[in-house]
Amino acid sequence: MTRAAVVGASGFTGGELCRLLDGHPEFELVQATSRSYTNKTLGNVHPNLRHLDVRFTDPEDLESVDVLFAATPHGVSMGRIDAFRDAADTVVDLSADFRLPEERYYEEWYDGHERPELLDEAEYALPELNRENLPGADLIAAGGCNATATLLGLLPLYEDGILSGDERIVVDVKVGSSEGGATGSAASHHAERSGIVRPYAPTGHRHEAEIEAYLGARVSFTVHAVDMIRGASATCHVFPDSPVSKGDLWGAYREEYDDEPFVRMAAGGGTVYRYPEPKAVAGSNFAEVGFELDPRNERVVVFSAIDNMMKGSAGQAVHAANVALGFDERAGLEFTGFHPIGAP
Ligand SMILES: NC(=O)c1ccc[n+]([C@@H]2O[C@H](COP(=O)([O-])OP(=O)(O)OC[C@H]3O[C@@H](n4cnc5c(N)ncnc54)[C@H](OP(=O)(O)O)[C@@H]3O)[C@@H](O)[C@H]2O)c1
Repeated sequence: MTRAAVVGASGFTGGELCRLLDGHPEFELVQATSRSYTNKTLGNVHPNLRHLDVRFTDPEDLESVDVLFAATPHGVSMGRIDAFRDAADTVVDLSADFRLPEERYYEEWYDGHERPELLDEAEYALPELNRENLPGADLIAAGGCNATATLLGLLPLYEDGILSGDERIVVDVKVGSSEGGATGSAASHHAERSGIVRPYAPTGHRHEAEIEAYLGARVSFTVHAVDMIRGASATCHVFPDSPVSKGDLWGAYREEYDDEPFVRMAAGGGTVYRYPEPKAVAGSNFAEVGFELDPRNERVVVFSAIDNMMKGSAGQAVHAANVALGFDERAGLEFTGFHPIGAP
C-alpha cells in the first residue's frame, strides 16, 4: 500500500481527504495531523469517520510517508514545504501556496511568496487541464474550487477556438458554507448565514488570477455565498466575436470531455435537472458542465457545478495523485452522489 499523511486533517477538506483515503484501494492513511485535536480520534471531529482507529498527531512530528496531502490555510505550506518534502516523496497541497505559476501573481493578489523558486516545479492538479504533466510530479497544487468550476466550464470554448482570449466574459459563482473552512466567523454564524444570497466577493476575488493564469484570458468574476453546505456553481456569460451554433458548442464540449471520467454534460433535455446543479454532484468527484445559447443577445451561458470539497479540492487532489503515481486515475473516486437528498 502507498502510505499517506494528511496535514490539516481536522479541517473540512482534510476530513474529506481522510474519507477518500480510507476508501482508496491503493492508499493507507498512516498520519492525520491537528494541533487542536492531538491524540483525539478522527471520529471526534468527523463523525462519518468514527469507524477509523486513527488519532490526530502534531504536525511538527511528521512520519515518513509516500504522499503527504496538505490541507492547511494559505501560507502554511510555503513555510513548511522543506519539512513536507523531507517527510514524503510526493506533496499534494490544497492551498493556494503553489497554485499560481509565477511570483508576480502572488505579489499582485496575495502578500508575496516565501519560496518563489518552487513555483516552476509545482504542477497544477486539475487533470482535465494538466494531465500530461502530472505523471511523476512530486509537488502538486490543487486548484481553487471557484476557479475549478469556472475553468471546467470555459475550457472547451478556448480549446476549440470559439473564444480567443479577447472577449468579455462575466462569471458569477454561488458557493456553499463549507468553502470557508471549519473555523467560523461572524459571517458564517448560522443565524447570519442561513437563507442568504450574499455577494461576498463582488470584485477582486483571488481566483480571478488563477483563471487568468490557466485560461490565458481575463474574466470579470463575482462570488455569492448561498444557503448550501457543499457546492460551487459557476454561471459564465460569454459573448463570442463570431456567431456560434448549438452544434458548434456540443462539438467543442464533446471533444473536450467525452473521455473525461469525472466530467458529465447536462445541457437541457427536459428533466428536472436540466443544467448543472451542485446537488446532483454533492459528495462525488463529478463535475457537471452545460450551456445554453442566447442568439438574440449573441450570448452563450455556460454552467458548471462541482462539490467544492471533492472536485474542488480533496477529490481533485486524490485524482491528481492517482495520475502522478500511475494508479488507475478513477481509483477511490468512482462512487456517485445520492439522489434525492436534502440541501447538501
Ligand atoms: N473548503 C473548501 O471548499 C476548499 C476548497 C478548495 C481549497 N481549499 C483550501 O484548502 C485548505 C484547507 O481548507 P479547509 O476549508 O479544509 O480549512 P479548515 O477547515 O480551516 O482546516 C484547516 C486545517 O489546517 C490545520 N492548520 C491550521 N493552521 C495550521 C498550521 N499552522 N500548521 C499545521 N496545520 C494547521 C487546522 O487544524 P489545527 O489548527 O488543529 O492544526 C485544520 O485541520 C485552505 O488552504 C483552503 O483555501 C478549501
